[in-house]
Amino acid sequence: MPGISPVEPVGFDPSVPNEARVYDYWLGGKDNFAADREAAEAALLIAPELPLMCREGRKFLRRAVRFLAGAGIRQFIDIGCGLPTQGNVHEIARGCAPDARVVYVDKDPVVVNHGQALVEEDERVAVIRGDVRDPDSILTHPRLRALVNLDEPVGVLLVSVLAAINDDDLTRAITARLREAIAPGSYMVISHAISDLRPEVTGKLALLFASEWAVKDDGRLRLPTQDEILPLFGDLEMVEPGLVQVPEWRPEPDELRPPKDTVWAVGGVGRKR
Ligand SMILES: C[S@@+](CC[C@H](N)C(=O)[O-])C[C@H]1O[C@@H](n2cnc3c(N)ncnc32)[C@H](O)[C@@H]1O
Repeated sequence: MPGISPVEPVGFDPSVPNEARVYDYWLGGKDNFAADREAAEAALLIAPELPLMCREGRKFLRRAVRFLAGAGIRQFIDIGCGLPTQGNVHEIARGCAPDARVVYVDKDPVVVNHGQALVEEDERVAVIRGDVRDPDSILTHPRLRALVNLDEPVGVLLVSVLAAINDDDLTRAITARLREAIAPGSYMVISHAISDLRPEVTGKLALLFASEWAVKDDGRLRLPTQDEILPLFGDLEMVEPGLVQVPEWRPEPDELRPPKDTVWAVGGVGRKR
């Protein structure tokens, strides 16, 4: 996959570490700059497992999307989609549902620019700029409305994006609004890093974010505990095995799993009745 092009959208500053590009670096991608790599390496001194966690996060996403496509979902909204990578949602979904329609959403103009260039390969894929803090502006976006019929079941993906919110009340309000907006038979997929599995590591990372760089919007990072994630699904019916550490969510029989507790993130899938 090509690296970042010389023509970049307004708001682009390669000297400031950026969440999507740091994440891209941990995933082994090429869409990152020296400032991103420096920030990513500083975090690796505290948590060398971060690349493994990112890969496990993508594997969780892949299994969840396949599950949804297998359950009949044909339209997906991937919020906080990140830079294009190996195995994007439309590619995964189309493995079992060639007619799947996918809208990618990210608040980062660089992500949107690259996504539009690289994954908008036909009229059933769109990449739009949107902020999960304002779900209605996403749900009413004309390009989303052209692809997604909200009166029919949809798969909403909130994979490794809610940690950027840093406001528990807002996170609850966002997920409640999305649950309310989707039709019965829809699914919501959430994964989230948590603080209670490796508190010593997440505590140090929070200090690093606060003191060194502004990868998070306000330079802070407060991760919730696992118990704080489950209520985000509200009254959705949890798909088995419920909310678990991401490698434990329906692993493929032949999939190698990392040592227990190295991945301090949980994920789950809920279905609206
Ligand atoms: C850690 S990456 C996760 C990417 C992808 N979901 C995955 O799991 O591979 C988080 C992404 O969320 C985006 N993001 C952060 N805050 C956001 C917000 N308020 N609204 C929409 N996207 C946001 C970032 O720009 C970044 O691309």
